[in-house]
Amino acid sequence: MKIDDIKRILVVGAGQMGAQIAMQSALHGYAVTLNDLSMDILEKGMKGNRVQLEKRVAKGQMAQAQMDAAIGRIRLEPDLEKAARDADFVVEAIVERLEPKRELFSRLDSICPPHAILVSNSSTLMISQIAPATKRPAQCANMHWFYPPLVMRLVEVVKGKDTSEETAQLVAELTLKIGREPVILRKELPGFLVNRILRALGREAYYLLEQGVASFADIDKAVELGLNHPMGPFKLADFSGLDIGYNARLETYEITKDPSDLPPKALEARVKRGDLGRKTGRGFYDYSATPPTPTPD
Ligand SMILES: NC(=O)c1ccc[n+]([C@@H]2O[C@H](COP(=O)([O-])OP(=O)(O)OC[C@H]3O[C@@H](n4cnc5c(N)ncnc54)[C@H](O)[C@@H]3O)[C@@H](O)[C@H]2O)c1
Repeated sequence: MKIDDIKRILVVGAGQMGAQIAMQSALHGYAVTLNDLSMDILEKGMKGNRVQLEKRVAKGQMAQAQMDAAIGRIRLEPDLEKAARDADFVVEAIVERLEPKRELFSRLDSICPPHAILVSNSSTLMISQIAPATKRPAQCANMHWFYPPLVMRLVEVVKGKDTSEETAQLVAELTLKIGREPVILRKELPGFLVNRILRALGREAYYLLEQGVASFADIDKAVELGLNHPMGPFKLADFSGLDIGYNARLETYEITKDPSDLPPKALEARVKRGDLGRKTGRGFYDYSATPPTPTPD
């Protein structure tokens, strides 16, 4: 298959990631089908997209006609069979659990056209765990977007052990076509590139905090002013949700049994109190104040 043979993209899962992946693809001219478990969920996903695009129109960054045309290119279809029939490229962005993903890939394999490429947006599950559920593992890959997909430019394209070079190149080409920048990982490994580097930074930041070397606010300040990162590791943890980082560490520990992978005390204490970061108004920082103030342990 050639890049120009990709005419219609199907995105399965219209949550935080899938709805915006569909929107980003439609903004770049692709016909898109968006599938989820119900029409209500699909409409909620599209409502979120409208809010984002209306802001761009209000700021003069986008014409109303451009927004309307892009929204018009997205077909909402809760029936997977109907959604998959004419798909050339499928992005899976459903719940982060292996079995549902394997079941979905198996079903997609039987109902999509034989040439279709199937990719997973999973952050932690590697395509080699999912693709054996299909009869087309060479046409499967990870295509890992970052939140929020309408803003974040990077996409990690990851080859599993059976992914063909042609598939990896096509996923990378499509990424460029929809206004995003690909990096290709020639070998798969948990956490891919970005989350591994982020984890290494986070581990050191928590180590320095636990050793009493500096406060978390000063560690954030050091990373922001010394490395030019837009947010230090503790502010970023608040932004992503402390429960997300906490659960990811527990899952990693389940696999590695390495105590250094367990959630650090400062993180655990906040999660146990229900202080999950920005979404609850309080995490490492208290967001009821402007600027936010550091919280005590
Ligand atoms: N949230 C992030 O920051 C982020 C970043 C990168 C990658 N991801 C990955 O993207 C995927 C989706 O994450 P999310 O944050 O959008 O989750 P989410 O919970 O917001 O959305 C998942 C959606 O999938 C739907 N769904 C579940 N099972 C389905 C099925 N069988 N068929 C169709 N739809 C189904 C749910 O109804 C829900 O709307 C996960 O694999 C996650 O690891 C998430």
